Amino acid sequence: EKGGYEHYMRKEIHEQPTALRQTLSGRIDLDRGDVDLDLSFPQGYLESLEEIQLVACGTSYYASQYAATLLEEFADVRATVEIASEYEFDGGRDPWRTLVIAVTQSGETADTLGAIRRAAGAGARTLAVTNTLGSTVTRETNDTLFIRAGPEIGVAATKTFASQVTTLALLAVAVGRGRGSLSTADARDVLENVRGLPGAVQQVLDDEARVTEVANECLGSDAFFFVGRRFGYPVALEGALKLKEISYDHAEGFAAGELKHGPLALVTEKTPVLAVLTAGADGSETVNNLAEAQTRGAPAIGVVSDGAETGSLDCALEVPRVGVFEPLVANVYFQLFAYHVANLKDRSIDKPRNLAKSVTVE
Ligand code: M6R
Repeated sequence: EKGGYEHYMRKEIHEQPTALRQTLSGRIDLDRGDVDLDLSFPQGYLESLEEIQLVACGTSYYASQYAATLLEEFADVRATVEIASEYEFDGGRDPWRTLVIAVTQSGETADTLGAIRRAAGAGARTLAVTNTLGSTVTRETNDTLFIRAGPEIGVAATKTFASQVTTLALLAVAVGRGRGSLSTADARDVLENVRGLPGAVQQVLDDEARVTEVANECLGSDAFFFVGRRFGYPVALEGALKLKEISYDHAEGFAAGELKHGPLALVTEKTPVLAVLTAGADGSETVNNLAEAQTRGAPAIGVVSDGAETGSLDCALEVPRVGVFEPLVANVYFQLFAYHVANLKDRSIDKPRNLAKSVTVE
């Protein structure tokens, strides 16, 4: 059932090109520069939309952070993200003009269901973005958008993160087109990059042997720091979550610019820093932050755009050029890194201690 893989997590990491093709299947119309998502927004709804609020937990929360920036960029709409367990709906005078999106792989996360119920109760329009047909969230929202990643068994969310961000990118195009804020030409550019994702992810998977080497070199580390800007920031947070979840090592994600505001005090030659330096992540500015860590002896591992300058990195991992989606592809390196560190330490990868695949208590 694991198709020859030792763990579901590695199988699911490798399923990402297929999962992404399923996510995109039949949804992109390059000629029109538009997408078909089968949503039932009433006539004129998108034009009158005032705000989009995304609510989610864990990995789905980081996917939502990525998506909020995409929505602001493509759809010119205010987009906020909140951790579901902290969320209170505040929809102003006309709550229906706020679209609240619950992003949840399982569709059963109690914190996320609680948040979407509070929003619906206050009169907001609601949308579920989920992987699970027939799940509770689909019965409690006005619309559902399936991410179509296929079943995910490993407790660590991997392929569903990629499919969530990609589905929400399509939604951002739909909203941008509906509001008239995204031109046909710009939409086509975005959609071309989206269509490049399965192949780009495959190239990273083909580079797995290098990640195994890097993981091996890092085994004696005290802690791991992940840094990034813009779309690289949620990916840094997600990279750290993945590593701590399955390896039990101390890992933290930071906005790259924040290193010098405190975390730098923790940096030594035993704290590798993994940085997203690709397009969509303002890499050249992050390189300067990284240099401050390197001065303290920290090994620097950077994910860069194919063919970019790699400067003084101890290790450079390359991703194909897919614009603002490069950090999403960089995340696949972080997934492989977490997997191999945990595997070398012989951890219980598919069922980490203290964790459950779906968290049905608040
Ligand atoms: O099913 P959901 O997407 O609502 O789950 C949310 C989180 O519990 C989940 O992403 C969790 O953080 C993962 N185990 C992370 O790998």
